[in-house]
Amino acid sequence: MMRHFLDDDDLSRSELLTLIERSVELKSELRQGKRPDILKNRVLGMIFSKASTRTRTSFEAGMAQMGGHAINLTPNDTQLGRGEPLTDTAKVLSEMVDAVMIRNDSQTDQIAFADNASVPVINGLSDLLHPCQMLADVQTIIELRGAIDGAKVAWIGDGCNMCNSWIKIAAKMGCELTIACPEGYDPNAKILTTAQELAPGKIQIVRNPEDAAKNADVVMTDVWASMGQESEAQARMKAFNGYCVDDRLMKGAHPDAIFLHCLPAHRGEEVSASVIDGEQSVVWQQAGNRLHAQKALLELLLT
Ligand code: CP
Ligand code: NVA
Repeated sequence: MMRHFLDDDDLSRSELLTLIERSVELKSELRQGKRPDILKNRVLGMIFSKASTRTRTSFEAGMAQMGGHAINLTPNDTQLGRGEPLTDTAKVLSEMVDAVMIRNDSQTDQIAFADNASVPVINGLSDLLHPCQMLADVQTIIELRGAIDGAKVAWIGDGCNMCNSWIKIAAKMGCELTIACPEGYDPNAKILTTAQELAPGKIQIVRNPEDAAKNADVVMTDVWASMGQESEAQARMKAFNGYCVDDRLMKGAHPDAIFLHCLPAHRGEEVSASVIDGEQSVVWQQAGNRLHAQKALLELLLT
């Protein structure tokens, strides 16, 4: 049966854990120089309506390493930029490629795209969610802590797409998640309520970052102005004053706490240079895991 990966909810807990096991295996094989042709001659179309370094490179390199190919389609270079409907594009691409990854600013449009596609569609980030990043985040935590269940996770900053995805993951994987964000920058209310019902008492919002970071095993943040919010950047800088993940905040966390950031990062804004470049930061391993986890995802959806 054909499956899409548009939402963190599209994989069950056990499927996610199996996918991570496979990702760890692919990572170890790659380090031994093994690049099995799992997706020989398969083609992934990638629609990027927003910038990307990690998502593009990891999907493109991953397809090449598995014997397949990826095509980068940006609205400026395709008829999408001249008004061809996304739903028509879904039908056309389905005739030509084996799967499509899409990054844009509308989860609703991605769902419409998938409804019109006859190949698997992957969400490479939307306004609402960033499920591919979750695969890498979960893998990184499991690699470093042995398990994710029961981890005490602190989200500091904007209630953005990353935060929404993390709420879903925390409920699914049994983490305690405390989100510290200023009023007016809360995560999606429906996602929060659903997760709180699924995991009573495990997911909460606070306004003081120190309360969230206290005794946390994992401390995370993301940019204060996501792509598309550039005009709000100044107002957001003011609103998020005091929400920088710095040494003082990390001191309140568990002594073995790790720091995660999906990247790109702004040193001196949401995170201090001393934290992101310090010993508790695992952001390079986290970024690298994008490659392995998405290879496991492509294998799952295409074979
Ligand atoms: N974390 C992430 O998705 O990075 P890119 O925007 O570079 O793809
Ligand atoms: N919240 C950020 C994530 C970038 C990977 C954005 O949407 O721009």
